[in-house]
Parts: sequence; C-alpha cells; structure tokens
Amino acid sequence: MSSTASAPSPSVRRLAAPAPGWTKTTDVVVVGSGVAGLTTALRVREAGLRVLVVTKAMLDDGSTRWAQGGIAAALGEGDTPEQHLSDTLVAGAGLCDEEAVRMLVTEGPGAVRRLIATGATFDRDDEGEILLTREGGHHRRRIAHAGGDATGAEISRALVEAVRTDDDLELIEHALVLDLLTDAKGRTAGLTLHVMGEGQRDGVGAVHARAVVLATGGLGQVFSATTNPAVSTGDGVALALRAGAEVADLEFVQFHPTVLWLGPDAEGQQPLISEAVRGEGAHLVDADGVRFMVGQHELAELAPRDIVAKGIMRRMQETGAEHMYLDGRRFGAAMWEERFPTILASCRSHGIDPVTELIPVAPAAHYASGGVRTDLRGHTSVSGLYACGEAACTGVHGANRLASNSLLEGLVFAERIAADIIERDRLGKLAPRHEDTTRPVEVVPLLAAEARAEIQRVMTRGVGVLRSADSMAAAVEGLAALAEPEPDKSEFPQVETWEATNLHLVASALTAAALLREETRGCHWREDAPDRDDENWQKHLITTLDEGRLQVG
Ligand code: SIN
Repeated sequence: MSSTASAPSPSVRRLAAPAPGWTKTTDVVVVGSGVAGLTTALRVREAGLRVLVVTKAMLDDGSTRWAQGGIAAALGEGDTPEQHLSDTLVAGAGLCDEEAVRMLVTEGPGAVRRLIATGATFDRDDEGEILLTREGGHHRRRIAHAGGDATGAEISRALVEAVRTDDDLELIEHALVLDLLTDAKGRTAGLTLHVMGEGQRDGVGAVHARAVVLATGGLGQVFSATTNPAVSTGDGVALALRAGAEVADLEFVQFHPTVLWLGPDAEGQQPLISEAVRGEGAHLVDADGVRFMVGQHELAELAPRDIVAKGIMRRMQETGAEHMYLDGRRFGAAMWEERFPTILASCRSHGIDPVTELIPVAPAAHYASGGVRTDLRGHTSVSGLYACGEAACTGVHGANRLASNSLLEGLVFAERIAADIIERDRLGKLAPRHEDTTRPVEVVPLLAAEARAEIQRVMTRGVGVLRSADSMAAAVEGLAALAEPEPDKSEFPQVETWEATNLHLVASALTAAALLREETRGCHWREDAPDRDDENWQKHLITTLDEGRLQVG
C-alpha cells in the first residue's frame, strides 16, 4: 500500500483561456449565488467594501434552492450544540475536524437567527416556535424547514431579494469563472470569466480584485444521475487546482439514498425525496414489503446517509432489483399536501401518487463532502483565495456529511469569511489591487463539449456508490482516453467546453483519491477493501496539480 500517488492526469497542452477582452475592478469577487456566496457578499458589502457577485446562471439557479429537508441547528428545547457535535462526528466516520464542527454547531443557531433577520421565513407552530424535523443521523428533531419541503427555495428567495435590493452590490449573471489571476507575489489579484450574453458568446474578461471567494457549489454532474442542477460542474475545485491550491477529501462523494428512480437510463438532475420524509415516519421497503433497514442500525431508516445508501444497494444486489421503495402512505393526503408539497408534486408529475402508492427510490450522487481545503476562516492555501459551501472542505463533514449540515456550513463559514476580509481590510492586510497580473501556470487540455456525457458514464461505472481497484482503474483509462484524441480546437472555446474540461479535471482528481484510499469509510465504499482501516487511513488525502500532474497524498 502506498499513501501517495502521482495520478495519470491530463497532460499540459495549451492555455485554458484566450486573453481577456475587457476588464473590471472591485474589492472582493464572490463566485456563486447559493447561501454561502450571497451571505458572504451581503456581509462584506455591509462593511462598505465593493463586492461583485458572479454567477454562472441566474442568481437563483444554484444548488441552494433545491435543498428540501432544511437547515440543522440546535434550536429545540433540550437540544445542545454538544449533541449536534456528537451526531456530526459520528456521521463523519473519524475524519471530521472537531474544532471546525464545534464552530459550526455553536455559531449555527445565531447564524440561523441572522438569516431570519435577513428575511427568510421558517415554518412555525401555533405558538410561533420554529418547527423542527428529523433526518438521518440526528438523534433529535433539529432541522428547521420552510414551505414544508422547500427550505432551500425560501432561503434563496430571501437572500436573492436582499442582494437585488442592494444597489451597491454589483452582479454579473451568466458568467462562468475560468482562472485565478495572481500578482507578482503569488497573491490573488482577481479572476478571468466568460460571460454568456446575447452577442457575447466570446466574452472572456478579467476582474481585478483584492480577494476572491469561491462558493461555486458542487460537482454532482461528474456522475450521470445526480440531485445537483446542471450547473454543478466542479468549477471552483477545478479553478483552485489550476491555481495551485490544495483540495481535500474528494473521494467522499455522498450518494443520497432516496432519489426518485426514473429508470435505468435516467440522466442529469433527478428529483430528491428528502430524508425528512423518513424523518416523519416513512419506511424503506423492498418489493416484498420487507423493512430491510431494521436490524442494520439502531436508527433503522434514519441511520446516517452512507449506511442507508449501502443498505439499499445491498438489498438491490441481493434481490436483483433496480430500486427499492419508500412507503409514505401512512401520512395521508393532508399531510403530504401540507408538509411535502414539492415532493408530492414532483412524484405526481412522474405518474406516482405517494398518497396511495410506494415511491421507487435508488441512491444518486448528491453532495461533495470534500473540496478546496480551507482553514477555519475560509482561507485556501493560496493567499487571498477563499472557499465556502460545497466547493470548500472546511473539515466539518469528514467522510460523510450529516444531513442538513450543508446550508448551516455555508451560512456559518460565509460569516467567518466576511469577518476575516473585513478585518484584513481594516488592518491593511488585504492585498492591494494590481492590474499587473498573471494567469495560472497550471494549464490543462480543453475537452470538446461532447466529452461531458462520456465522463459521466465512465465515473458512474467506475467510481460510483460502490467502487473497487478494478472499476477505478477502468475509469482512469476512460478518462485518459478522453483527454487524448480530440481536444477542443476552436479558437474561441465556449462555456460547454470549459465545463467539460472542469468535469474532467475534477473527475480525474476524485478518481485518483478514491483509488489511493484502500479502505471503506463513510461514503467511500470499496468492494475490494470493505473495512475501515484507522491504522493506515485515518487521515485526509490532499490533492494538488503540479506541472500538469495530479499529486495525491
Ligand atoms: C434532504 O432533504 O434529504 C437533503 C438534505 C441534505 O442534503 O442535507
């Protein structure tokens, strides 16, 4: 067993972007419009710094709005941050950074209250107390929700409204970030981006800034079926790698256990059936009606997510079935309509009525527990570059994120990043703005846009919910083959080209880490190394891109 590897990765062929055609200046660029990005932007802006928010689609098109279940925080009577800490550490399977988790759970309740003050409305009981539900791995009702099962949509609505009504906050929608710009001392000095507007198909520009915050969301589109929207192509992780930043824990991709099963060939974003449905009492059953999670874990269907996903996969293997079922018929029509209106509508639009029928479900890629490595103030290993939310690896999630901790992490660490930027500015420690910048040394081959579907197939076959050395070796080969014969040759590559290129780099890094970690832990499940091995693997794998080769160790 080796504990480091230099992975087969894209060879250096050409610079990833043409020279910028226009420039712009600001103090801080925030990339992304989910809870992490918009909270950072609003808080930094409140301190009087100039902020530009860049988002790949529309302001409300990120992952946040798809979150159903809610946001976890010790808000209920009798609950404490200590209990939330304990559940988070158990789910994280030995790899959480306890200090980071302690910050999350102690600062969480206050951050949720500040989110409410910003305009988000949560479901409340007749006495006005916030209603709390349960999800996998939580020993208490701890999940605040909005609109029944539309928590992310409500949070997104409130933050987008706050951003849109702040006349001093600048915004560029439909802009994909390309690469980091640095000054002569290697400090962050801005970034390049490709704006896709009417008549602007070749709109590559540069923004000069004193700090950059990556809140670009996840990388679920690396796989064929995912709960992530089409924009989740790992752009932040790819940019960070090309900029020389460290990336951690990429092998820990969480597969949500209960995603609506739409057939064996279903591709792209799939409808989520929130864990809160199980939290309110729905059961997982096989085709014979057997509750197969009972006896596998003390919490049965509400075990941490990785355990339930594995339970479903095992039962599928044992019975030869393509999916399992979720039985929520005991709720009745009124509860479905009031508590889970989004899921009810989504199931019905696919011809399934959960009031009277079982819901077919199977695991699908859901959340990257790893990402760009940061400290407790959101700093990456590149000066002036911050990362937040799903794009980041703060150490909070370890090998498996606890349900509904992600919105909380975005919120808490966004506030920490904003506080750090404001403090640095006050102390004169934020880098001065430089227009004399350079683009990254690390360059990767541009892939043709069509490579996207093949990357997804290769990754789903080889590095999906169940992995082995053989399946991952095949993925390495498949990815290498995609990088070789037909790179994009166009003079002005388009957004789809960058996306395929980012997916390829992130898929290669994920595979390299997963291949190296010869054990099963959290959501990294190896058929050929089925046990957790604390002696050798109770550690994080850090990935960097060095002279065109991925280094993992
Ligand atoms: C869910 O509602 O099941 C998803 C919540 C999460 O991913 O934390």
